[in-house]
Amino acid sequence: MNSNNGSGNSNNDYDNNDSGNSSSSSGSSGSNGERPERQMIVGMTGSTGAIYGIRMLEVLRELSIPSHLVLSEWAAKCIRMETKYTVRQVIEIADRVSDDKNMASSISSGTHPTRGMVVAPCSMKTISAIANGYDDNLVARAAGVTIKESRRLILMAREAPLSAIHLENMLKLARLGVVILPPVTEFYTKPESIDDIINHIIGKCLDQFDITRHNLYTRWGSRT
Ligand SMILES: Cc1cc2nc3c(=O)[nH]c(=O)nc-3n(C[C@H](O)[C@H](O)[C@H](O)COP(=O)(O)O)c2cc1C
Repeated sequence: MNSNNGSGNSNNDYDNNDSGNSSSSSGSSGSNGERPERQMIVGMTGSTGAIYGIRMLEVLRELSIPSHLVLSEWAAKCIRMETKYTVRQVIEIADRVSDDKNMASSISSGTHPTRGMVVAPCSMKTISAIANGYDDNLVARAAGVTIKESRRLILMAREAPLSAIHLENMLKLARLGVVILPPVTEFYTKPESIDDIINHIIGKCLDQFDITRHNLYTRWGSRT
């Protein structure tokens, strides 16, 4: 990855500190004002579906849940190739941002408390790195830390078709309690737009963290 994610944004951290985005509305205080709200780590990697990671960041911000973003080199490229967003715009949605090469980031250590981590979207290369403990970049390292600290890890795994290698890696992770949540479209809520489809997956992902105070999709049985 280029040292500036290609964005020229100085909010990235390249030394030993994470960088904050002063533009964020969610900040770091809990809604009860008693203790800081723990961050949700959002990893974005280079599979198709960059919009899922972007929407996750937007929703966390709407819910005042602080996010800590780490983007792989190919995630940054996919953002440019697939979406109307610039990398800089995506970075600015997050509360904190760490460079994928910065192993000295706070989220590289289990001593830094977090709610857990979502990798959205998650490439098969990153699945393989996480499944094999190959912590060569911060996305994989933070995911490995999330597993070793027994925190929630959701992988929005994206590839089609899936080879036996992909399936074996995912099975290994699922057996460790990692949630494999592919961005698979459902039709029972009768989606009318791509936004509906994206929101449904983001809602399902947040539900995994018991974050249910959202209206991202209509729950089965809740229609009158
Ligand atoms: C446009 C585009 C779409 C891609 N889609 C996928 C995909 O859906 N799943 C996947 O595993 N890799 C996909 N790749 C390949 C990954 O980007 C590549 O394996 C990369 O090394 C992943 O690195 P990362 O996990 O560190 O981001 C795609 C690449 C490009 C350029």
